[in-house]
Amino acid sequence: MFTLAPETPADWWEVEALYDLCFAPGREALSSYRLRDDVPPVEGLSLTARDPEGILAGAIRFWPVHVGDADALLLGPVAVHPTRQGEGLGGLLIRHSLDVARDRGWARVMLVGDEPYYGRFGFRRLDGVRMPPPTNPDRVLGIALAPDAWKGVTGPVTRWTDTPVPGVAPPA
Ligand SMILES: CC(C)(COP(=O)(O)OP(=O)(O)OC[C@H]1O[C@@H](n2cnc3c(N)ncnc32)[C@H](O)[C@@H]1OP(=O)(O)O)[C@@H](O)C(=O)NCCC(=O)NCCS
Repeated sequence: MFTLAPETPADWWEVEALYDLCFAPGREALSSYRLRDDVPPVEGLSLTARDPEGILAGAIRFWPVHVGDADALLLGPVAVHPTRQGEGLGGLLIRHSLDVARDRGWARVMLVGDEPYYGRFGFRRLDGVRMPPPTNPDRVLGIALAPDAWKGVTGPVTRWTDTPVPGVAPPA
């Protein structure tokens, strides 16, 4: 019923509008957004979900980050239009994008969110991984896409400074 596709520049403002609808005003003031400044969301992992009429029903984005000396993906934002929530679309977006990330060789994914929701996908609290404050440590969650990928990975989460990862940009 929904078609998933990699986000393109043409989708950009529609996805932003969906996030504005689904999150509290001022979402970009959150400390997690400082990890996203001037770094594009990862192309191919950032997805849209459209209904048969082509209307945007959900979207997910990922950013590359560093955790200590290790590389990781930061999942989010993920949002489903209020009229489409509870139909499994959030789960579809998360599971599909994690499969793509694994296929592309990413070893670990983290996020800031509710364990009661993300636990069903295998996310668990990450001890010793520090998001920029103020972030509740109980909401810092991770999943390994390769065996033991989070073992020994601790430290601050910082903005990506490595070789640029191909990303989605707003239209010029
Ligand atoms: C969170 C969100 C993406 C889930 O999308 P969705 O398509 O409704 O989710 P699914 O249909 O895959 O799963 C629905 C289930 O998740 C549960 N759920 C949704 N949000 C939850 C939360 N924050 N905590 C615990 N459970 C949650 C629902 O109660 C439902 O439970 P059930 O399967 O037992 O009935 C969507 O509700 C949303 O866009 N919310 C607003 C934006 C947001 O909070 N994004 C996440 C940031 S952390």
